[in-house]
Amino acid sequence: MVLWSQTILELRSHLATYRRQPEYKIGLVPTMGALHQGHLSLIKRAIAENDAVVVSIFVNPLQFSPTEDLINYPRQLEQDLELCRQLGVDLVFAPEPGEMNSSGNTKALNNMTAVIPPQSMTEVLCGKYRPNHFTGVATIITKLLNLIQPDRAYFGQKDAQQLAIIHRLVRDLNIPVAIVACPIVRETSGLALSSRNQYLAPAQKQEAAKIYRSLRQAELAFRQGELKTEILVNLVKQELSQAEGVKIQYVELVDPISLKPIKEIEQTGLLAIAAHVGSTRLIDNIVLQKHQPIIAIDGPAGAGKSTVTRRLAHKLDLLYLDTGAMYRAVTWLAMESGVAIDNERVIADLVENIDLKLTSPNGAELPTVVHVNGQEVTNAIRTPEVTANVSAIAAQSAVREKLVKMQQQWGEQGGLIAEGRDIGTNVFPNAELKVYLTASAAERARRRWQDLQNQGREDINIQQLEQDIQQRDERDSNRAIAPLKKADDAIELITDNLTVDEVINKIVEFYQQL
Ligand code: PAF
Repeated sequence: MVLWSQTILELRSHLATYRRQPEYKIGLVPTMGALHQGHLSLIKRAIAENDAVVVSIFVNPLQFSPTEDLINYPRQLEQDLELCRQLGVDLVFAPEPGEMNSSGNTKALNNMTAVIPPQSMTEVLCGKYRPNHFTGVATIITKLLNLIQPDRAYFGQKDAQQLAIIHRLVRDLNIPVAIVACPIVRETSGLALSSRNQYLAPAQKQEAAKIYRSLRQAELAFRQGELKTEILVNLVKQELSQAEGVKIQYVELVDPISLKPIKEIEQTGLLAIAAHVGSTRLIDNIVLQKHQPIIAIDGPAGAGKSTVTRRLAHKLDLLYLDTGAMYRAVTWLAMESGVAIDNERVIADLVENIDLKLTSPNGAELPTVVHVNGQEVTNAIRTPEVTANVSAIAAQSAVREKLVKMQQQWGEQGGLIAEGRDIGTNVFPNAELKVYLTASAAERARRRWQDLQNQGREDINIQQLEQDIQQRDERDSNRAIAPLKKADDAIELITDNLTVDEVINKIVEFYQQL
């Protein structure tokens, strides 16, 4: 049964039991209840990424104006608790309004200390029509973050303005939490899920679905090269002029981080809309992003590719596609399932059905967090035993095909850095920057030995490591499928005498010249 606390005292005592365990990660999903699939996607992600998950349910009076739907806002605590229980949430914090104010007086909530986001972020989009809304949100979110002190907090991209403001809030006030943005969940009609969709009659829902269709129309024009705000915004308005049931409140194109209005898209723009369908106010948005460069890092095992790639991803704000971790994950799964490493048929089945999830870690120094079929295997995939089998697995065509397809899908938007054996030759042959990172076998053995020593493995023989590395190079270069090979247009970097920082700085220079 999910634990449910209504008071701060109870909340604190539950949290104290989690905190007794060092390294325990806590995820927070703040909600106003009336949970739908959108919330559930945040909760599932939080569960996958943390040791304990707290869901808060609080219909926050501070973020409603007197003319809004505070009284009628859907409340369904029993049902929400049951959903949380089914998903495996550890704790639901569902306070009454009085509990959230130090004086314990519901009415006094309006009188509490407020957290006021920068005016430039609240005078646009919804803020124009909901004057104190974001102060109400920022105040309550600050309070929840202080109370729960989660490692990660999860918010939906549907409330893009709220998300940008919360990002700014935790930066400005140095609140030690990672804000995790989660994609919008939609009905098959395209309608973005919202607790307020409950207010819509079936015919109104059909009308409401036109909101997303209009955004997609603008996206299409953008993909075909249209960058001007005026034209993109007008496309949305034109499209919706044919939807009688939809009354636009605003359509704006702004910078997704600062929320400042833009005249045209340089790299990325947030196209956001609010509209009424009947008396229900709905919001939706789409992020229009130009294809950003892809960096492909290839090279033999142990050349420092993964450290360099991870740090570069952090430095250049690119997505890190850790393909090595993907092959390791399949290797781990085969070993865990007791399948012989050369049983290609059974391994093909395993990989076909694998539910593989990679998440960026909180720091540049940490390995990619990996889940296989719901189980966290971040460390389990990095043992010497997995290392010994990974290249045999990576040479199997079914494994290769499936994982390459996944990688290419993730790469469609660009803006990523990936490392492996065939990233520049096979996975992303059109990558804007290709680097072939290499070092002598002796140097790579020395680095690997050092790593293992640092992990407390003192039983490792350095000559043996060097031999293993040479054999692995040999296998990787000569295998039939996706052999290790420098792409013709790759820049070769030999790292024997370079520090990691020097390697990174060189690649940053190449990137800046693109
Ligand atoms: O998005 C919401 O449901 C609310 O604004 C939030 C973040 C829970 C704050 O009350």
